[in-house]
Amino acid sequence: MRFLLFSLLAAAVEPVVSRAVPPASHVVHEKRDFTGSGRWTKRDRVAPHLKVPVRIGLAQNKKALERAQEWLLDVSHPSSEKYGQHWSQEEVIDAFAPTEDTVTAVQDWISSVLGEKTKITHTDNKAWLAFDASTQELESLLHAEYHEHHDEASGKAIISCDQYHVPKHISEHVDYITPGVKGIHVYSSELRKRSESRGRHGGHRGGHGGQPPKHRPAPMMPQNSSELSTCDVAITPACLQALYHFEPLSPHAEVSPNNSMGIFEEGDFYAQQDLNSFFTNFTSYIPNGTHPTLDSIDGGQAPVNTSDAGGESNLDFMLSIPIIYPQTTTLYQTDDLYYAEGGNGSTGGIFNTFLDAIDGSYCTYSAYGETGDDPGLDPTYPDPNGYQGQLMCGVYKPTNVISISYGEQEQDLPAYYQERQCNEFLKLGLQGTSIFVASGDTGVGGIPGDGTANGCLRNGTVFSPTQPNSCPWLTNVGATKVYPGRTVFEPESAVVDLAGHPYSSAFSSGGGFSNIFPIPSYQADAISTYFADYNPPYPYYYNGQYNGTDGLYNRNGRGIPDVAANGDNIAVYLEGNFTLEGGTSASSPIFAALVNRINEERIKAGKGSVGFINPVLYQHPEILNDIVNGTNPGCGTDGFSCAPGWDPVTGLGTPNYPKMLKLFLSLP
Ligand SMILES: *[C@@H]1O[C@H](CO)[C@@H](O)[C@H](O)[C@H]1NC(C)=O
Ligand SMILES: *[C@@H]1O[C@H](CO)[C@@H](O)[C@H](O)[C@H]1NC(C)=O
Ligand SMILES: *[C@@H]1O[C@H](CO)[C@@H](O)[C@H](O)[C@H]1NC(C)=O
Ligand SMILES: *[C@@H]1O[C@H](CO)[C@@H](O)[C@H](O)[C@H]1NC(C)=O
Ligand SMILES: *[C@@H]1O[C@H](CO)[C@@H](O)[C@H](O)[C@H]1NC(C)=O
Ligand SMILES: *[C@@H]1O[C@H](CO)[C@@H](O)[C@H](O)[C@H]1NC(C)=O
Ligand SMILES: *[C@@H]1O[C@H](CO)[C@@H](O)[C@H](O)[C@H]1NC(C)=O
Ligand SMILES: *[C@@H]1O[C@H](CO)[C@@H](O)[C@H](O)[C@H]1NC(C)=O
Ligand SMILES: *[C@@H]1O[C@H](CO)[C@@H](O)[C@H](O)[C@H]1NC(C)=O
Ligand SMILES: *[C@@H]1O[C@H](CO)[C@@H](O)[C@H](O)[C@H]1NC(C)=O
Repeated sequence: MRFLLFSLLAAAVEPVVSRAVPPASHVVHEKRDFTGSGRWTKRDRVAPHLKVPVRIGLAQNKKALERAQEWLLDVSHPSSEKYGQHWSQEEVIDAFAPTEDTVTAVQDWISSVLGEKTKITHTDNKAWLAFDASTQELESLLHAEYHEHHDEASGKAIISCDQYHVPKHISEHVDYITPGVKGIHVYSSELRKRSESRGRHGGHRGGHGGQPPKHRPAPMMPQNSSELSTCDVAITPACLQALYHFEPLSPHAEVSPNNSMGIFEEGDFYAQQDLNSFFTNFTSYIPNGTHPTLDSIDGGQAPVNTSDAGGESNLDFMLSIPIIYPQTTTLYQTDDLYYAEGGNGSTGGIFNTFLDAIDGSYCTYSAYGETGDDPGLDPTYPDPNGYQGQLMCGVYKPTNVISISYGEQEQDLPAYYQERQCNEFLKLGLQGTSIFVASGDTGVGGIPGDGTANGCLRNGTVFSPTQPNSCPWLTNVGATKVYPGRTVFEPESAVVDLAGHPYSSAFSSGGGFSNIFPIPSYQADAISTYFADYNPPYPYYYNGQYNGTDGLYNRNGRGIPDVAANGDNIAVYLEGNFTLEGGTSASSPIFAALVNRINEERIKAGKGSVGFINPVLYQHPEILNDIVNGTNPGCGTDGFSCAPGWDPVTGLGTPNYPKMLKLFLSLP
C-alpha cells in the first residue's frame, strides 16, 4: 500500500514504515485485551482514504474526581455552611476540565504530525479534542493499523485497532483515543453494504431490569374515591394523602414555572385517555387532558393510543400528577422505538442517552476509562433503524426532581460504565437536581434467568445488587404495603408477595449492598448500627469479591435503598380498564413528587431546590416513618429484615410530609 504525504513535517518525523515499528520516543497507549468479548469479528483493513472523526480524550483533572464527593457534600450536608449553594453547569464543567498544560501539549503534538492546518476543536465540556482525519493520517499519528470489525448478531460494523502508540511525553495527558482499541461506527456505504441483513436475536430493556410493573386484570374498583377503609385493597390518591400526611394543592394555586417534575421513560408510553379516566374517577381537581410536557429524546414519542398504553408510564403519571397538581410534569421519553425495545439485542446499557440530553458535556465525558456512550452497549445515532438525527446533547435543562423506575443488575454492565454514570449523577446533584430510583422488585436477588436460573450470583446463592441504585449519589426508593386488614393509620410493612399473588411473579422490595461502590460517608453510621444491632444471619465478603468465599453479600458496599414508599395494589387505568399495579416502580414517583412539592415551597421562600437529599435524610431520620416489619426474600433466603433505623429493605422509611417540609424549609 502506498501512502500519500499529507505534510512535509509528518513525512520527516513519521516515516510510513514506522507504523509497524514505532520510534523509541513512542509507547503503547492502549492494547486490546484479547480475553474480552468474542462478539466482534476482525475483517479487512480500513480503506486509507476513509475520513473518520477522531476524538482525543484528555486526561481528566484527577484532583477533581478525588474531590467530587467532598464538593457534593458541601452543598448537601445539613451542617455545611454552603448547604443549598448549588453549582452552575459551567462551574461543574470547569471544575472537571483537564488542565491547560494537558490541552496545549496534545494540541502541539497533533499539529506537529498532521500539520498546522488540521482543524482541532475543543469540545463543550473541555474534555476532548476533536478533528477529522483520513485513516492513513490516523495510522501514521498513532502507529496503528485499523480494521473493520463486524458483529454478526446485530449486523453492526465498527473500525478499531488492536493497539496504538503516542509519544512518551503525551501519554500522561491522554486518557483515550477513538477510534482506537474502542471502535467507532462509520456510516460509509462501503461498510454498511457488508454489514446488512445478518442474523439478529431479540432482547428487551426497560421496566426494572426488563420487568414491567406488575398488574392484574379487573379487580373490584373502590366506589368512593375519598374512602380510606379500602386502602388495604387498592391504593388511591386519598390513601397516599392519609399515609404520608399531605393535602392536594388548590387547583388554582400559583406554581413556579421552573419546578416541573421530571419522569424518565423508555420503551413504555402513557395514554391520555387512561389518565383522563383516572383523574375523573379518583380526583375531583384534575381536568381531563392534563398531561406531561414531552421532552423527546432521540426520537422518543408519547402519548400512544389506549390499546398501546404501558403499565410503567401510566402508573408514574397517575401517582405523581395527583400529588403535585397544578405543578406540572416533564416526560423524558428516551430513545427511538428500535433501541427502546431492545435494538434486537444490540444494547444492554441504559440512561446514557438520557443523561446526554440533559447534560451536553456528558456526551463526550471521560471517566474511569470510559468516554462518551459505549457503542457496544448504548444506542448510536443516527440510527439506520429509527431516529435519523444526531445524538441529542444538552438539549434540555434537567428538572429539579427526576424519578426513574428502570434499572438492571450491577452484574449486567461493566463496573467502569456504572462508575462513569454514577459520576454524572453526582454532577447533577451538585447542580441541585434530586434523582429518585426504584430499588427493584426481586428482593436481594436478580431477575430469574439473568445470569443464573434464579438471577443470583456465583452459584445462584450470592445476592445480586441493582443498578443504577448502587450509585451513592442518588436516592433509592424501596416498596411498602398496607397488608389486608390493616389501615393507613397503622405503620406499613415492607412488600412481600412471594407466592406471586396477586401478580404473576414473586415480588419483594429490592435491597442489599453494592459490589462496586463503597459505603458513602453519609451512610456509614446507619449501616454500622444495622450490623451492630441487627446483624444479618448470612456469611459475607468484602470489596465485592465473592468468588472463593462462602459470603452472600458485600459487607462494605453502599447500602440500598435509602427510603421507601407504598408500592402495592396501586389503583390505575391501563388500556381502558381499571386495574391494580405494584412494584418499586410506584414508590419512586410517590417519594419524588413529595420532594417536588418541598422544592415549590422553598422556591416560594426564596430558596433553591434541595438537590441531593441523602445527607439530610441520614442526619434526620425522624422526618421519615421508620418501617420495622418485613423482609425482602430472594436467592432462596428470607433476604434482609426490617429493623428500627435504616435497613436494607425499606431504608430509613416512608415520607412524613409535614416533618420533611418543616426541616427542608428550615435549611438555607
Ligand atoms: C365517601 O367517603 C368519605 C370518607 O369516608 C365520606 O365522607 C363520604 O360521605 C363518602 N361518599 C359517598 C358518596 O359515600
Ligand atoms: C425561572 O427560571 C428563569 C431562568 O432560569 C428565571 O429567569 C426566572 O426568574 C425563573 N422564574 C421564577 C418564577 O423563579
Ligand atoms: C374525562 O374523560 C373520561 C374518560 O374518557 C370521561 O369518562 C369523562 O366523561 C371525561 N370528563 C369530562 C368532564 O369530559
Ligand atoms: C368510574 O367509576 C364508575 C363506577 O364507580 C364507572 O361506572 C365508570 O365507568 C368509571 N369511569 C371511568 C372513566 O372509568
Ligand atoms: C392511534 O390510532 C389511530 C387510528 O387507528 C391511528 O391512526 C394513529 O396512528 C394511532 N396513533 C398512535 C400514536 O399509534
Ligand atoms: C428484530 O429481529 C427480528 C428477527 O430478525 C425481526 O423480525 C424484527 O423485525 C427485528 N426488530 C426490529 C425492531 O428491527
Ligand atoms: C467470579 O468468577 C466468575 C467465573 O470465573 C467470573 O465470571 C466473575 O467475574 C467473578 N466475579 C468476581 C466478582 O470476581
Ligand atoms: C455455593 O457456593 C458456596 C461457596 O462456594 C457453597 O458453600 C455452597 O454449598 C454452594 N451452593 C450450591 C447450591 O451449590
Ligand atoms: C379490558 O376490559 C375489557 C372488558 O372487560 C376486556 O375485553 C379487555 O380484554 C380488557 N383489556 C385488557 C388490556 O385487560
Ligand atoms: C408484617 O409483615 C407481614 C408480611 O411480611 C404481614 O403479613 C404482617 O401483617 C405484618 N405485621 C404487621 C404488624 O403489620
